[in-house]
Amino acid sequence: MDGAQKATEPSRTSAYAERACKVLAGGVNSNIRLNEKPYPLCFVRGRGATLEDLDGRTYIDYVLGMGPVILGHDDPRVTDAIVEAVGRGLTFAGQHPDEVEVAERICAAVPSVEMVRCTCSGSEAVHAALRFARAATNRWKVIRFEGHYHGWLDTIYVGERPDEEGPVAPALPGTRGQSPATLQDVLVLPWNNLQALEATAHLYRGQIAAVILEPILCNTGVIPPKPGYIEAIRAVCDREKAMLIFDEVVTGFRVALGGAQSLLGIRPDLTIFGKAIANGFPLSAVGGRRDIMVQVGTGSVMHGGTYNGNIPAMAAARATLDALREHGGAVYGAITETGRSLMDGLRRTAAEVGVPVLLQGPGPIFYMWFTTKPAIDDPRTAKTEGAAARALFIPAMLRRGVRLVPDGRWHVSAAHTSDQIAQTLQAAREAFLEVRAAGVT
Ligand SMILES: Cc1ncc(COP(=O)(O)O)c(C=O)c1O
Repeated sequence: MDGAQKATEPSRTSAYAERACKVLAGGVNSNIRLNEKPYPLCFVRGRGATLEDLDGRTYIDYVLGMGPVILGHDDPRVTDAIVEAVGRGLTFAGQHPDEVEVAERICAAVPSVEMVRCTCSGSEAVHAALRFARAATNRWKVIRFEGHYHGWLDTIYVGERPDEEGPVAPALPGTRGQSPATLQDVLVLPWNNLQALEATAHLYRGQIAAVILEPILCNTGVIPPKPGYIEAIRAVCDREKAMLIFDEVVTGFRVALGGAQSLLGIRPDLTIFGKAIANGFPLSAVGGRRDIMVQVGTGSVMHGGTYNGNIPAMAAARATLDALREHGGAVYGAITETGRSLMDGLRRTAAEVGVPVLLQGPGPIFYMWFTTKPAIDDPRTAKTEGAAARALFIPAMLRRGVRLVPDGRWHVSAAHTSDQIAQTLQAAREAFLEVRAAGVT
């Protein structure tokens, strides 16, 4: 395999990392990228399901830009559309036809979304959704769940709940520099625990503007809701007249054309999209019930942004959404099949080597733990379970030319081939042997 066997030796990549650290804080532009070991890699080219680094080493990529690259890197349909769009202009601070084309495609794909607004990042779209929900209800409290990630902005980024707290705990700042005041209306609840939600709904009756969640939790393990849980959350929101917000920044246009909500059969009031919506071009969207979105349209609720709906972003989304909805969204069958066969292969290979693993997720995204547990349904266990083995496995895969998210999440694209899956399983066999030899499982 043309892999990364020598990733830890001095190289142009390590020299780059040293140079970057002098002028870029931490050598990166997002703290999420600080976690890559031995140092954040530097890539010069992405094509299909592979990345090439500064030293010419290639990697099979399961990071996929942290999820967005659903069609594969440099998909010609998307690249050509962007190049053509750039020739027309970048941003007009005026409307252009692709904005409607994209909005119509989103609304057609996701029935709960009757109107949308586009913006640039998932964090921004989350911020907008919270404002829209608060305006619609004229209430301030927002319920969110432990382990879910809704971006890095002050209004929703939280620290871990202390163990001794009861189910209804005030939110703690997630970072230095964040004012606790920004979180005074945020309540953090344990995930997959209906009792905690009912207790909170009772305690804060008439004050809850919204419940926000990742419908399939993908930011701490990949944890689906327990049977009946999301339905119960929907019912609590209906009863309490609170908005249900699905943060589908990861799952939207990744797990199905209609997002996780189509797999779960639940209609939220507002949905947030990002990542896969434009195959990696910076774009996000917030949309939902017409009566909520109309308040934005009348100007009574502020939503702005110089780059919202810019020309290349809309072209990227139009081309991506066209590719994804071709033949009734057939590509999702293929991606799911690839993901599931990879999950099965990992289970089989681990069993042959004698390393206990648990794989969870719908296929286009999944998570692997080193554990004998049959399932994991809470983020606290998800975070710590098998962490020592994972910390060995991920660099062992990188040395063999397979790039994984440092936290253990796997993304699959339409561009992954059966050969690449076979190479991945061969690398995994060797990495499992290393893990077994270290005696950490
Ligand atoms: C579920 C979810 N919501 C929101 C965000 C924030 O999106 P962005 O990083 O584009 O600001 C992320 C980012 O990973 C996410 O996973």
